[in-house]
Amino acid sequence: MTRLYIVSAKKFLNIAVTVWFIVAVVGQWIFATYVILFYGKATATGHNEDWNKVLPHGYVEGETTGNIVVGIHLLLTIIIVIGGPLQIIPGIRKSFPVIHRWTGRIYILVAFVMSLSGLFMVWVRGSVGGITQHISISFNAVLIMISAVCAIRYARRRDFKRHRVWAMRLFLFVNGVWFFRVGLHFWLLINEGPVGFDPRTFQGPFLTFLSISQYSLPFIFFEMYLKASKSANRIFVFSAASILFLFTVIMAIGVFAATVGSWGPKMN
Ligand code: HEM
Repeated sequence: MTRLYIVSAKKFLNIAVTVWFIVAVVGQWIFATYVILFYGKATATGHNEDWNKVLPHGYVEGETTGNIVVGIHLLLTIIIVIGGPLQIIPGIRKSFPVIHRWTGRIYILVAFVMSLSGLFMVWVRGSVGGITQHISISFNAVLIMISAVCAIRYARRRDFKRHRVWAMRLFLFVNGVWFFRVGLHFWLLINEGPVGFDPRTFQGPFLTFLSISQYSLPFIFFEMYLKASKSANRIFVFSAASILFLFTVIMAIGVFAATVGSWGPKMN
């Protein structure tokens, strides 16, 4: 009987993580579509100044180097956001191992360029938000680079168990900025407006909390999932699965709110 309970708890956990992944991929691809249709279209039609409708420091007349860095950051968003899930889906990974190896190397290179260009945008170019947010997102960049190095190191050593864990951590840290946007729109929707921060300065306790949560919460949930998937304690496994479901519901509402309130209207 106990064995039966633990089998159904594990099934529940697997369903929770699969549903989480599907919702995350759909939401990330909507975000990538927005980047293509908004920034891509503005750039392709020679209206780079339209970037500034979203990014106050996006395009600065005469600052060629800075504009190129922002342009690269936006262009590579498309690759990293669309490519990330494709690296992880087991069917694709197992059917095309050679492609997985090459696209994996590209993904890691892109993760580094995204992080370094992001650091440049925060500390040299200047961006919205306060110092705590800037430090927090910089820490996110460091986490991306550390997990990228670990993922490739374990793949080279053919320690695929550890490689998979680090690749998943890399995927979550890379999507920290996406979690931030989804979390923000969830918050704006449930509060029917900005609460806990000043929308003019884009600063306040809620945004500080969110900028730390964007990488720490997904990381904690993933570690919890890893422990639960090996655990024989059905209460722990059920609790972990329930937390993942709750996280998925919040994420789905956030994706919906971001799509309707921000990404969607800029796509045409
Ligand atoms: C690796 C995954 C990342 C992706 C996919 C990504 C994507 C983007 C996108 C699409 C934008 C345009 C804003 C929007 O339309 O929502 C943006 C802006 C920006 N990103 Fe990233 N980014 C990533 C990582 C980072 C990191 C690690 C940093 C900092 C270290 C960073 C710093 C910035 C800054 C400063 C802006 C401009 C915000 C402003 O003007 O105030 N990004 N990013």
